[in-house]
Amino acid sequence: MNTSIWQEITAELHAGTHKKTHPFRYGTLATVGLETLPRQRTIVLRAFDPEEMRISFYTDTRSKKILHLKENNRVSLLLFNPGKQLQVRIEGLAHRERSESVLQECWARLQAGARRDYTSLQSPGTEITDPHRIDYMQKETSDFFGIVHIFPFKIEYLKLVKPDHLRVRFSKEKQAWNSEYLVP
Ligand SMILES: Cc1cc2nc3c(=O)[nH]c(=O)nc-3n(C[C@H](O)[C@H](O)[C@H](O)COP(=O)(O)O)c2cc1C
Repeated sequence: MNTSIWQEITAELHAGTHKKTHPFRYGTLATVGLETLPRQRTIVLRAFDPEEMRISFYTDTRSKKILHLKENNRVSLLLFNPGKQLQVRIEGLAHRERSESVLQECWARLQAGARRDYTSLQSPGTEITDPHRIDYMQKETSDFFGIVHIFPFKIEYLKLVKPDHLRVRFSKEKQAWNSEYLVP
């Protein structure tokens, strides 16, 4: 396996979850539900576990992405670092965190303003007439706070560099990661 590129990927993912200004803080997550149309959205990478290569984000459990994950938990996550001309495309399986204690621990660490994002009375995506009149629950509740973990099975690295662009595919087979160079 190409360990130097692997280390670069893990370092970027680590930086994305630890440095607020790192471009890997934001990723584009694509899901495909039963209607078979890919749906993409920006998410904030909240945690990265290099042992399991597990990437986590927070979400409102009433959102469409959660419905998509129930229908099909195969997802794609796209990350781009413009300063390095580096793209990392990840394919993996998404799983919701089910441990109440883990959810409560993360909820407790969220700032009050961020908690509000998960307490609208109506579900995300509901049509409204006035964008400045959104009703929130009277009591702060974590009922709709969710954590989703992505477990990659394929990671594709592409860096545009001179003289030769570099593209490497990492695939997980029987718990081991292998890599191949690809034509960029
Ligand atoms: C800068 C930015 C960061 C966002 N971070 C998240 C996030 O971490 N989790 C999330 O569920 N939605 C996040 N969103 C909102 C999603 O992009 C999306 O619009 C919303 O979750 C609804 O998506 P869905 O209907 O496909 O589920 C973010 C949006 C922006 C613009």
